[in-house]
Amino acid sequence: MGHPGIKGFFRAAAGILSYPQDPRSFAQMFGALSSAHYTRGRITRVRRETPDTVTVFFTAGDGWIPHRAGQWARIGVEVDGKRIWRPYSISAPEHGDPSITVKAQGLVSEHIVERAAPGNVLYLERPEGQFLLPDTPTELLFMVAGSGITPVMSMLQTLMPRRPDHDVVLVYVSRNRESCIFHDEILELADQFPGLRPVFWFTEERGRLDASDADALAELCPDHADRVTYACGPDSFVSAVEDLAGSHGGTPVVERFDVTRQFSGGQRGEVRFTRSDMTLEVGPDETVLEAAERAQHQLPHGCRMGICHSCLVPLTDGAVTNIRTGELHREPGPVQTCVTRPAPHAVFDA
Ligand code: FES
Repeated sequence: MGHPGIKGFFRAAAGILSYPQDPRSFAQMFGALSSAHYTRGRITRVRRETPDTVTVFFTAGDGWIPHRAGQWARIGVEVDGKRIWRPYSISAPEHGDPSITVKAQGLVSEHIVERAAPGNVLYLERPEGQFLLPDTPTELLFMVAGSGITPVMSMLQTLMPRRPDHDVVLVYVSRNRESCIFHDEILELADQFPGLRPVFWFTEERGRLDASDADALAELCPDHADRVTYACGPDSFVSAVEDLAGSHGGTPVVERFDVTRQFSGGQRGEVRFTRSDMTLEVGPDETVLEAAERAQHQLPHGCRMGICHSCLVPLTDGAVTNIRTGELHREPGPVQTCVTRPAPHAVFDA
């Protein structure tokens, strides 16, 4: 599980996440908490979901705002002495301790999957996001692919006990049964609340599901066009759901888990950060944010998918291309560094 090189790195980083166990250091930790800028969380339990996915349950300290089902939060993890932040959807239902469900993809997620243990400390920012349950009861269709199930699991666990007869269809695409996160929990939820009808689609058995194909979807959910639709997962999957819903006048509520890089350009670029007097080469598939992080230059960021605008940094010279739209941006002013790359030179006040 995980990249072998990363495993070696994790071994080298052993102990970094350890929570102090002796009472004195425990007290020191909480003494430090009063002046800490960020809320801290303490891991209470780690549950293996699939071979490469775990759910990390934690209690949150003062300053944590209770999450709403479907929201995400930036979580900070100490890796090799550096605190690195990534956004994670919260998989726990509302009104309880939070949890995140993490698939081993990328440095921070692999670190969490390999090393998270009860007692470890996490750093927390407040939950945010507008992927939320409707205020009024309505028939729902959740279209989910892969780890897109994580915020939806929070929604289902929140919604079904609140309205046990609620009419909800979940179409959940995953590679196979083994990689299907929360498979058994979803079946148990459906047993308990008959209004929930899960439809599992395993691509190894049935091939790819074209979520923009009305006939294919009608076989799984005949009245899909009459339901309020939620979609969560990879950009291409969510866009397909949007295309189909749009064709019958619907606007689904969506959350994307990645960015389709349609306009990477295939060429290297160069970015300069004037405040830190740093010039970096940017790889053909890298964003400005990723290039900065590779050089351990911290830039602000949140969702990393062009949604939240937390990553705005002033462009002072040169140009950038948006990797999703291909739009060229030359005017000096704030730029989303998570979805742009230099074209081919860009200068930032950072
Ligand atoms: S980090 Fe959210 S828009 Fe860039």
